[in-house]
Amino acid sequence: MRYGSGGVNGWATLCGAFNGAAYTIQLISPEPKPIIDELYMWGERTALPDVAFTPSNARFEITPSVANSVICHASIAEWTKASGHKAFSKERDDRCGQLTASVARKVVMMLNDQHAGKFVPAFALSEEVQECSGCHLKGSRMENTRGKMECYACHAGVHDKQ
Ligand code: HEC
Ligand code: HEC
Repeated sequence: MRYGSGGVNGWATLCGAFNGAAYTIQLISPEPKPIIDELYMWGERTALPDVAFTPSNARFEITPSVANSVICHASIAEWTKASGHKAFSKERDDRCGQLTASVARKVVMMLNDQHAGKFVPAFALSEEVQECSGCHLKGSRMENTRGKMECYACHAGVHDKQ
């Protein structure tokens, strides 16, 4: 999985924590899709690293941030704004390490819940994604794109002027 670091070989596309997590879920879970969806929606909307996991020997106190995205580039940009640290700093190294721990913990909890037959998704696709889907996504009039990511992360106010 080394290729996944830095959002795939430093390309800052899919965050390596969410890439590795989806791979792990696919390997282990009898029904991976709802777990991956839940993880990604949680990941977009939760301030990470979350307070549920703080290593006792942490070098730095890490400022959490909401990425609105599972994309490394967006996640790092939101965090550098929130924390004031640089994208290639030691603080950023530790931030991504702690974020990965938060993601791993979440995955384990969901897999345990699913195994025990009590996995209940807490998130649904946002109202905005559902609204956009009526014209742009699968089965819609235009059907000119696809995806489940939060649209506003890249298209904020795209139709506001109309
Ligand atoms: C009622 C139908 C409708 C809905 C709902 C809708 N769109 Fe559109 N969208 C259109 C149409 C029609 C076009 C093409 C004409 C235009 O550019 O205005 C378009 C164009 C776009 C474009 C291309 C714009 C450009 O300048 O090239 C983007 C990006 C887009 N929509 C994103 C979204 C997002 C994100 C949402 C949800 C917040 C959304 N749309 C909701 C009808 C819709
Ligand atoms: C990570 C950034 C990102 C996210 C998130 C994103 N888009 Fe886009 N989208 C783009 C880029 C880049 C383009 C191509 C340039 C453009 O048309 O703006 C694009 C283009 C589009 C277009 C124009 C397609 C065409 O044929 O002209 C539509 C419609 C669109 N996106 C809808 C959506 C919807 C709906 C969502 C949410 C489900 C979404 N996008 C989420 C980056 C994103």
